[in-house]
Amino acid sequence: MEEIVEKIQELKRRKKAVIMAHYYVRDEVQEIADYVGDSYYLSDMATKVDADIIVLCGVTFMGESARILNPEKKVLLPAEDADCPMAHMASVEKVQEIREKYKDVAVVCYVNSTAELKAVSDVCVTSANALKIVRALPNQNIYFIPDQNLARYIADQLPEKHFIYNDGFCPRHHAVTKEQILAAKEAKPQALVLVHPECKQEVTALADFVGSTSGIIKYATASSAQEFIIVTEMGVLHELKKRNPDKTFYFASNMICPNMKKISLEKVLDVLEREQPEVRMAPERMEAARRPLERMLELAVDH
Ligand code: 13P
Ligand code: SF4
Repeated sequence: MEEIVEKIQELKRRKKAVIMAHYYVRDEVQEIADYVGDSYYLSDMATKVDADIIVLCGVTFMGESARILNPEKKVLLPAEDADCPMAHMASVEKVQEIREKYKDVAVVCYVNSTAELKAVSDVCVTSANALKIVRALPNQNIYFIPDQNLARYIADQLPEKHFIYNDGFCPRHHAVTKEQILAAKEAKPQALVLVHPECKQEVTALADFVGSTSGIIKYATASSAQEFIIVTEMGVLHELKKRNPDKTFYFASNMICPNMKKISLEKVLDVLEREQPEVRMAPERMEAARRPLERMLELAVDH
């Protein structure tokens, strides 16, 4: 393993590459990354890094976003088949239908989506900024794709807006049940429950805090509590333990995203050597998908 890490470091320097990783990838991949974060952080950092190559250790839509925001950089995906099923759970035809029906609609696209869906949307959001961005939109009607759960979580806090739901979901977060949370709470009544908003309403309703993966890590780190029940993908444990060696973390379910786990050190080394597979898209698609992503970055900033 040490040998692979050394080779990666050497290639990174020689090729002016940076490695970015999502909190859900394997621990050893998070360890060699220059930047580790949630989906929002990774899109934002992709526009700020000084590099010729970005190695994106995450699922396909993350690589696509990095490329769309940096058309002049080479973006490499160590596991080309690491796709997020939710990214495909909406349709361009349905977006067009909704636009016909509601003339003033804003199509809000969660970044966990294909570039094709982003290209027909008005603005992108991540779980870290969805509430802030949707609240700031002048539109009354909001068509939120693809995630029904994040949509409902936001809608509950914005009763002044009319939401049109889509039926997409994350197969991992959506599978968590109210019963699992109640059982975890009963076993550890002193622990606070921290939940990702891709979970169902019956689950977020039982949370002490709901937030993105970075939000959960920040909340646990700032809290004076000592024990936490975490309700998101288990990869976050690496950063949680790093920042909070004396706190205790439990999981309400053994949530693993198999696609995120496809990225290994061997694959990172391989993409750096071959500079393949590279994220590629038609220029018109990239152009159209860039607008909603840039709008997200503008609206997410604290003024
Ligand atoms: P965040 O990174 O926005 O927390 O989203 C979680 C997720 O499921 C990424 O695929
Ligand atoms: Fe997609 Fe869910 Fe995996 Fe995130 S955790 S990449 S939403 S399948």
